[in-house]
Amino acid sequence: MVELELHGAVAVVALDNPPVNALSVAVRQGLADALGKAASDDTVKAIVLVGQGRCFCGGADIREFGKPRKAPFLSDVINTIEACEKPVVAAIHGTAIGGGCELALGCHYRIGDTSARFGQPEIKLGLLPGAGGSQRLPRLIGIGPALEIILSGDYLGAQEGKALGFFDAIVEGDPTQEAVRFAEGLLAAGKGPRPSRHMKIEKAGAEKIFAAARAKAAKRARGLIAPERCIAVVESALTLSVDEGLALERKYFDELVVSDQSKAQRHLFFAERQARKIPGVPADTPTRPVRKAAVIGCGTMGRGIAMSLANGGIPVTVLDRDRETLDAGLSAIRDTYAGSVSRGSLSQADMNSRLARIDGTADYADIGDTDLVIEAVFEDMALKKQVFATLDEVCKPGAILATNTSTLDVDEIAAATARPGDVIGTHFFSPANVMKLMENVRGKKTAPEVIATVMKLTKDIGKVGALVGVCDGFVGNRMLYAYTRQANFLLEEGALPHEVDKAIYDFGLPMGPFAMGDLAGLDVGYAVRQHRRKTSPSNERYSPIADRIVEMGRHGQKTGAGWYRYEDGSRKAIPDPAIEKLIAGVSGELGIPRRKISSQEILERCLYPLINEGAKILTEGIAIRASDIDVIWVHGYGFPRGRGGPMFHADLIGPDRVYKAMCEFHEQHGDMLRPAPLLEDLAKSGKKFADYAS
Ligand code: 3HC
Ligand code: NAI
Repeated sequence: MVELELHGAVAVVALDNPPVNALSVAVRQGLADALGKAASDDTVKAIVLVGQGRCFCGGADIREFGKPRKAPFLSDVINTIEACEKPVVAAIHGTAIGGGCELALGCHYRIGDTSARFGQPEIKLGLLPGAGGSQRLPRLIGIGPALEIILSGDYLGAQEGKALGFFDAIVEGDPTQEAVRFAEGLLAAGKGPRPSRHMKIEKAGAEKIFAAARAKAAKRARGLIAPERCIAVVESALTLSVDEGLALERKYFDELVVSDQSKAQRHLFFAERQARKIPGVPADTPTRPVRKAAVIGCGTMGRGIAMSLANGGIPVTVLDRDRETLDAGLSAIRDTYAGSVSRGSLSQADMNSRLARIDGTADYADIGDTDLVIEAVFEDMALKKQVFATLDEVCKPGAILATNTSTLDVDEIAAATARPGDVIGTHFFSPANVMKLMENVRGKKTAPEVIATVMKLTKDIGKVGALVGVCDGFVGNRMLYAYTRQANFLLEEGALPHEVDKAIYDFGLPMGPFAMGDLAGLDVGYAVRQHRRKTSPSNERYSPIADRIVEMGRHGQKTGAGWYRYEDGSRKAIPDPAIEKLIAGVSGELGIPRRKISSQEILERCLYPLINEGAKILTEGIAIRASDIDVIWVHGYGFPRGRGGPMFHADLIGPDRVYKAMCEFHEQHGDMLRPAPLLEDLAKSGKKFADYAS
């Protein structure tokens, strides 16, 4: 787990705990032992700390959180390093993050190679740096940058780290050898330990920095407790001694680690990684190289998908019906990038290199040699079949043919080709260049190699993926439908759009179903409903309100009115008496007495049917596991991270509670709210969705 080797007067202590050298109890013990030996060996004059394998250190072992803490504690090991009388140098390659970054901060000097990255991602787990990062990082690099790193959880690269003073040097060669040389240089120059805790904290401008950080956190991390704790503990470094600050950090860490929010976010950390594991598609399944891609259709989604591929380093050719439509799409892509540059979130150089990876054509002959094609034309089965038949003709053997359909049958699309094994769904979310989720849809005949390639591509371009099966709406939209449907019925029964939206917003979603409808455009859903009513008429309860709103010409924000009204140039949703009158009129027509509906009832009536649909999806094998559904809802629909996704939320409050409420709804509203058999099983057996394996 930890090795000690002597290189002349320099002892090299190496962490060796694949895959990421997480600081489990055995590693902490090994570190303490090795450092103790090196410190007491008179022939050793300096110590170098390195990580074996792919990185320096990925931090504390997250699997140990929530279990009783075992000595030696990381903070004690780091304090011992800092107090060592011989200079200690961290040699960093790959990531030094979380506890790994704190370990490096405990060392007296840090050198990195060009692959080195560092950061404090604890906030993404609902935590704060718990082994000195909140006290040492601000002392080393200043309050502003330290706060930014701790609050964003993002990683910084070697050069940024050097500019900030985190790294003393960036080296080209083998970091261990270079660190030994660096340590020898220190000895030759008579330089000794340089503990971060002795560095003077710069207080000028601090008040403004903390006020700005609080304002940003209130906006971006609504409802989460960790950000305020992070700010408070860094702020304490201004007034408390290092040891007092460390004690406060420990207190807050211990409070956060047992919170539901941190449990939820740790669940998501593992869920995102678990989602990459597909039964029947082992990790060693060969993948096909994706060196060049094409996107068919340069509309809303095609543009975002093309940008996602280009951002991930893959050259992409976009194809649309004619040159004019194509040029309009390409120009919209340029505008989107230019907007990012003007907001400062993208450099001009990066914009140029991304744009250089995107070209356009109106001729299928130009995409014959691409490795992957993603189709994003109108949601029309006949058109999609025609496009796939053409792709089958022009694309080279082995090319992956993907569709971005949000509702259509991937198997039927695949059947338009003579190579259904190469066909798969890659369902991106709007705006595709921003939203992280790819709901990848496996058809009946999709080859394991194609699944493995698309799941790998998902990660390679910085997205989060989950693999699902074919059904109407797949996982995300099918569950969304179960939820928005009840939201509409609640209107007929007495609620108003802003009351429903507020209950959902207060729970933590970015917006409720009606505000979301106005944002997305109400005409799209209208067209789908009209088509469905013609092709598959049903006697199920149906709310006419949404259709009437569209028929009034109110298509949402784009027409200045939908469920709400909007003032010119504003996105602020204003409740509209005309809509309230329409809703009350529909209740009257249907003979439904209007009643006051509490926000708790609204929440349960919307969320529990959503969870219930998730249970059906699991039983049908459309999702592989409950945690995949959570990944889909957090990354595709803004389900609050601090709640871990709908299925984790159900597990937390208890499937029996959801079941009991569903039974009541069923009794009041009939079959549409019948509890799913799986929910009933879990409630009666005391098990959780997390225990369920299809
Ligand atoms: N603890 C336990 N397991 C970890 C881990 C950790 N800190 N970091 C990664 N792993 C596991 C993953 O679960 C995964 O396991 P699997 O193969 O069984 O699915 C495996 O290591 C590889 O992880 P990735 O697939 O993410 O590998 P990558 O090479 O893509 O990325 C990484 C490596 C950049 C280290 C990435 O895993 C990462 O960002 N990890 C975040 C770790 C983190 O949040 N660390 C902070 C922990 S909290 C802390 O340190 C508290 C301290 O302040 C006291
Ligand atoms: P869109 O209408 O904005 O764009 C469609 C594009 O396809 C247009 O540029 C059109 O010119 C082009 N096109 C039509 N026929 C073509 C053909 N034969 N050859 C080449 N190009 C052709 O549509 P949008 O919203 O981008 O949707 C595309 C697909 O993505 C649909 O399947 C939709 O269901 C799906 N989707 C849409 C989401 C959204 O929020 N808009 C979200 C997720 C999926």
